Amino acid sequence: MPNPEQSLSLPGYLQENETSQEFRDLIVSIPTEKGWIANHLHQYQGFWHTTRQLQGVLACQKHFQAQDGDIFLVTTPKSGSTWLKAVMFSLVNRVSFPDTKQHPLLTNNPHALVPFLEMEYIDKENLDFTNYTFPRLFSTHLPLLSLPRSVEDSDCKLVYLCRNPKDIFVSLWHFTNKLRPIAWGASSLEETFDKFCRGVNLYGPFWDHVLGYWKESLERPHRVFFLKYEEMKREPRIQLRRLSEFLGCPFSLEEENSGVLDEILELCSFENLSNLEVNNIGRLHSGEEHQAFFRRGEVGDSMNYLTAEMVEKIDMITEQKLHCHGLKF
Ligand code: A3P
Repeated sequence: MPNPEQSLSLPGYLQENETSQEFRDLIVSIPTEKGWIANHLHQYQGFWHTTRQLQGVLACQKHFQAQDGDIFLVTTPKSGSTWLKAVMFSLVNRVSFPDTKQHPLLTNNPHALVPFLEMEYIDKENLDFTNYTFPRLFSTHLPLLSLPRSVEDSDCKLVYLCRNPKDIFVSLWHFTNKLRPIAWGASSLEETFDKFCRGVNLYGPFWDHVLGYWKESLERPHRVFFLKYEEMKREPRIQLRRLSEFLGCPFSLEEENSGVLDEILELCSFENLSNLEVNNIGRLHSGEEHQAFFRRGEVGDSMNYLTAEMVEKIDMITEQKLHCHGLKF
């Protein structure tokens, strides 16, 4: 039964709606827990989704047709998707938009330029992406095993961006608190931390999500480019150059010398994007305010929020789940 108070104010994927019998049969057959904001999270193919978002995932898996040359930015929520959307859009479209003083990013939020695949499919089935300019650029939070079959069957490239789980958790806690109706107050840091560590958060468990793509990037490096938010912050020029090579659009010597890399990085910097008018007013069509995607944009801010015990716990999970696979933060 939809909660009328929720329906008024929450982004679409956090609301619940009327569903088909087939969908209801699926829901009762899979684990369900209370969400951070939404009434329910459902564990599908090992990962947690809200009810409506799961409808989008199923529709996307059924209907999305990938094409050779498609590019997917894959992230877990709060790993820097907004930033990388801006960077990748600027990178692959730099011939069409060479002037960063008159650029689509100055008047469009990055999420409007690079759609979230499974979110697009919420309440829709017949989406037509055929008029997108080549290369088609999409983003998704889907775990590797939940990607539509056509992605595996096509000659696509995947860019996976991940981030230190402590910063992800704190960023997610702030973000979900912004989405909560004011009357509900903030959610407790302790309660959500417990859920995050158990993997019960949107697209969680974080560690399983990362590990799937990490292994794939080792096995098929021509297909999956694995990037950390922290690396991108520390050495943006080097990472942008690597990214351009992976995507098959390397910077020419002339571009290097004329400062194109720096212009892209400046355009997409936290300082620039977060101060643009377009990112301080308005909302995505899914309902989130643009400004909710820009908070501090720093590495290590979680240390201002987590207790020593929390840090120890999350570090231990990371060590147990990822270190043996050679992945450290
Ligand atoms: P913080 O909450 O730690 O500040 P996502 O885009 O995946 O939702 O991630 C949001 C996080 O990325 C937020 O982190 C946000 O501030 C940060 N962010 C947004 N734009 C950024 C940019 N241009 N450069 C660096 N970080 C950015």
